[in-house]
Amino acid sequence: MIESPLNYTGGKYRLLPQILPHFPNDINRFVDIFCGGCNVGCNVEADNIVFNDNNTMIISLFNVLRDNPKDETLLAIERIIKKYKLSNVNKNGYEFYSCKSGEGLADYNRPYFNQLRDDFNKRKRKDRYYYYMFYVLVVYAFNNQIRFNSKGEYNLPVGKRDFNNQMRRKLTEFIDYIQNHEVLFTNLDFRRFELNENTDFIYADPPYLITCASYNENDGWNETMERDLLEYLDQASDNGIRFALSNVLRSKGKENRILIDWINANVHRYRVIELDYGYGNSNYHTKDKTSKSEEVLIVNY
Ligand SMILES: C[S@@+](CC[C@H](N)C(=O)[O-])C[C@H]1O[C@@H](n2cnc3c(N)ncnc32)[C@H](O)[C@@H]1O
Repeated sequence: MIESPLNYTGGKYRLLPQILPHFPNDINRFVDIFCGGCNVGCNVEADNIVFNDNNTMIISLFNVLRDNPKDETLLAIERIIKKYKLSNVNKNGYEFYSCKSGEGLADYNRPYFNQLRDDFNKRKRKDRYYYYMFYVLVVYAFNNQIRFNSKGEYNLPVGKRDFNNQMRRKLTEFIDYIQNHEVLFTNLDFRRFELNENTDFIYADPPYLITCASYNENDGWNETMERDLLEYLDQASDNGIRFALSNVLRSKGKENRILIDWINANVHRYRVIELDYGYGNSNYHTKDKTSKSEEVLIVNY
């Protein structure tokens, strides 16, 4: 299976064995309408795949990764790592940086990471080099997260890890996939995405109203958007389009009333498949590891 090269917050990689068996096997166009790290769309059987997200940075990065030779991309990334003196544990081992694996590389990388972040934030040209810098930043950032402040500056601190063999493998497998399949990346608010009646299958993995992630911050996702999405899916369904919606009904003492009311109002049209997610997604930074999230997949077929 292909895993996102971004270790994306809220990524569905670990849930794929439970989600994929519920997808139909006659999909013409698969629309991963909140694609994030692309974990889902990359692993489905379909004639062609559309990856959509309203995050311009990730969609531009994916286009750069698709449209440039893999060797050039890897070389450019290695050059940035070298130029900024960021750690390269694959090559030199942890001892070289006076860090033990558990403690991570943050202390060593901090000044170099901050320099790269400054240069990235100051850069005017949004060329492919800019997106390679962005990718390296995410790889070396705190929990590989993506967050920009109101001035449009990337503002996460350094993280514990680097461009290790696992990250490199994820990146090369992802590039191989997007360069060898019919894929399209679009950068739209979901409400503006036009569906093709009868040919599309839509997979929706929106930000969860009751959990935290950087894309929920600053009104990134709110009750109005939640209601708009449910209406969008109702409309798609009326037009004969099949959908699957990922979400959580309850998590850490909160419940999504809007979603639960919608399900109750549509018991004869939609089906709720309960997923087992154990401790919830470790990418959501929960302090209480014992509280389970009620993860579900809601389908109209
Ligand atoms: C839970 S994540 C998707 C994770 C993805 N399924 C994966 O496995 O990597 C939700 C995504 O929705 C995107 N998003 C938020 N609001 C949106 C909107 N109005 N239209 C389109 N995408 C949006 C966020 O940028 C984020 O990438």
